[in-house]
Amino acid sequence: MRLKDKVAIVTGAAGGIGRAHVHALAREGASVVVDDINLEGAETIADEARKLGAKALAIKADVSKEDEVKRMVERTVAEFGRVDIMVNNAAYLALSYKLFHETEVAEWDAGWSTTVKGVLHCCRAVIPRMIEQKGGRIINISSAVTMGGMERMTIYTACKGAVVAFSMSLAVELGRHGITVNCVSPGNTGTPGMLALLEMLPDELKQWHLAVPLQRIAKPEDIANAVVFLASDEGGYITGQDIGVNGGSTLPIISVPLPTTF
Ligand SMILES: NC(=O)c1ccc[n+]([C@@H]2O[C@H](COP(=O)([O-])OP(=O)(O)OC[C@H]3O[C@@H](n4cnc5c(N)ncnc54)[C@H](O)[C@@H]3O)[C@@H](O)[C@H]2O)c1
Repeated sequence: MRLKDKVAIVTGAAGGIGRAHVHALAREGASVVVDDINLEGAETIADEARKLGAKALAIKADVSKEDEVKRMVERTVAEFGRVDIMVNNAAYLALSYKLFHETEVAEWDAGWSTTVKGVLHCCRAVIPRMIEQKGGRIINISSAVTMGGMERMTIYTACKGAVVAFSMSLAVELGRHGITVNCVSPGNTGTPGMLALLEMLPDELKQWHLAVPLQRIAKPEDIANAVVFLASDEGGYITGQDIGVNGGSTLPIISVPLPTTF
């Protein structure tokens, strides 16, 4: 077990990828705080972690709200005595998929509050504790969209890009305390939400989403494996990096059918 005696918090942990993080951390021996705005979902995942032999605590904290995040970290320390691993996985995913000039400012604000400020709140709440403990691992989930570009995903891309840039500077600040800060950026991942979206897309966009050199979209476990690696001793010398877990989908692919006119 690579994470015995470690304590991890996962946000957005009732979702498709969050659930995989919780399972993977639990299997490696960590105690896990399972946070989500969907408390019932979080309780189900915490039960699953207990069945895997881990200690787990379900918490309802909205990451966009600083006071709720502070209380979540306080409860974590009260229950488990420490916090070693912070996995910032929650994001605003109620996307309108509109072209940028058709989006509303309210959507930008909603995206920014959860996807960016949510990460900031969680980092700020755990950092003093990690400094006291002389170490910690912060792992922020970004997205492959920041490595290229995607139509109708401009607000999401801007938010995830901000998370990557923030993580690099935070890594520089925190290195002296033995705290690493990294991003894991998934490509399309077969969560229930993503599979439903793929079903709805027109064929040409679907093909684009499925153009992956490794010939499949990611499984949630693929993303969680990278998180566990960064949280483990083996990942201890990696900081300030954005690790793409995308089957090569961000590479310029030259073997897909090309347009006949250009
Ligand atoms: N699924 C993909 O293809 C994919 C690709 C790239 C990046 N990602 C990223 O991976 C992460 C997980 O995505 P997913 O596909 O599992 O999504 P999901 O919708 O299945 O899960 C997201 C979870 O976050 C929770 N949540 C939303 N707002 C919250 C808030 N303010 N506070 C706390 N919890 C909140 C939701 O209730 C939900 O359970 C996200 O950061 C997402 O941007 C996903």
